[in-house]
Parts: sequence; structure tokens; C-alpha cells
Amino acid sequence: MNDIIVSGLSKNFDDLVVLRDFNAVFKAGELSCIMGVSGGGKTTLLNILLGLLHQDSGEIHGLPEKISCVFQEDRLCEDFSAVTNVRIACGMDIGKTEIEAQLKNVGLGDSIYRPVRELSGGMKRRVAIVRALMTPSDLIIMDEPFKGLDDSTKQNVVQFVKKQIAGRTAIMVTHDEEEVELMGGSLIKMVAANK
Ligand SMILES: Nc1ncnc2c1ncn2[C@@H]1O[C@H](COP(=O)(O)OP(=O)(O)O)[C@@H](O)[C@H]1O
Ligand SMILES: [Mg+2]
Repeated sequence: MNDIIVSGLSKNFDDLVVLRDFNAVFKAGELSCIMGVSGGGKTTLLNILLGLLHQDSGEIHGLPEKISCVFQEDRLCEDFSAVTNVRIACGMDIGKTEIEAQLKNVGLGDSIYRPVRELSGGMKRRVAIVRALMTPSDLIIMDEPFKGLDDSTKQNVVQFVKKQIAGRTAIMVTHDEEEVELMGGSLIKMVAANK
């Protein structure tokens, strides 16, 4: 396990400068939290780390191959149940009983075999979180994972996520300083590149 080092990262979309000479170190086995203004390039940075976008310049060292992700949008298979959504991602090495137990841990007890299209926004979010955390990986990326969760659900899910990522390298984008404190991560503030 090693640190992930981002140096001099830049990305434009045509005339729009989104990242300009961005530098960061994401510590191995720890949680790093990224905060910054809306439209400041946080999701773009995550997409570059995920290999879904390519930077214009700059380098990333120490990035592992296996990355799991809670995307900004849930990106679930709507016709499948919560259990199947998790199973598709985490593979057959992880038993159904364990998946059921983890989904119940985040309060989805009665709904784990309903098609996810019938679930509320907050319930879908929790499926997306469980899917990412149960998938074996060497880096966990979470883009505003607690968005849409009511306060008491959030407290419970935060505890679940903390337990699951303990000792793993994780990067979380959030708008909420309280979440950084609750999760106990180190904070990286992103300054808008076009300012
Ligand atoms: N594929 C794209 N093509 C053009 N512009 C984009 C694309 N993706 C993001 N942007 C723009 O880049 C800026 C940064 O977006 P994003 O990384 O999603 O910000 P954040 O996640 O910090 O809110 C925004 O102005 C957004 O509209
Ligand atoms: Mg974003």
C-alpha cells in the first residue's frame, strides 16, 4: 500500500479551465476529504483518478488498479434488487448472506429484494454505498456519498462507512465540514482554477 501522489494536474473543457496545476497526496490506508466550491472540478478530478477522463497535463503516481466508487449519481441497475446490484459488483466470492446483512445494517431490511426503482432516493444512495464498500478494492472513491440522507440515517451510514474503510485508502468529496469531522479524515481544500 502506498500514497497516491497527484502533481501538476490540469484539465480544460474547451475554454473552461477546470483544474490548474492541482497537487495533492492521498495517504495510504487513510481517508482524505476534498472540499471546494460547486463546479470547482472535484468530480472531474475523481473521473481522472478513475481513468474515465484523461488529464491535459500532470502526473499521478501510486494509483492502484482496483478502485471502487460511489459515483455522484447512484448508477444502479434499476430493475434489479439491492442484493443483485451489490452482487454484480462485488463478485461471487462474497456470500449472499453477508450482502443481506450489510444492506440490513444500513436500514434497508424490508426492501433488499425489491427492484431498486421502487426505493426512495436515500435508500438507493445506501445501496450505492454498500455496493462500493463491499467490492474488494485498493482505493475507495466517494463523491458526496451522504447526499440525500436524512440526519438520523446519515449518522448510522457514517458509522457503517467508517467501519468499512478502516485501514483502506479512501477519498471522499463533501460539501459539509461536519462530515469531515464525523468521518475523521484529513481535509484537502480545492481552490477553483478559474478564479
Ligand atoms: N464533460 C464535460 N464537458 C464540459 N464541461 C464539463 C464536463 N464535465 C464537467 N464540466 C464542467 O467543469 C466544471 C467542473 O465540474 P465538476 O468537476 O463536476 O465540478 P464539482 O464536482 O466540483 O462540482 C463545471 O463547470 C462543469 O460544468
Ligand atoms: Mg461534483
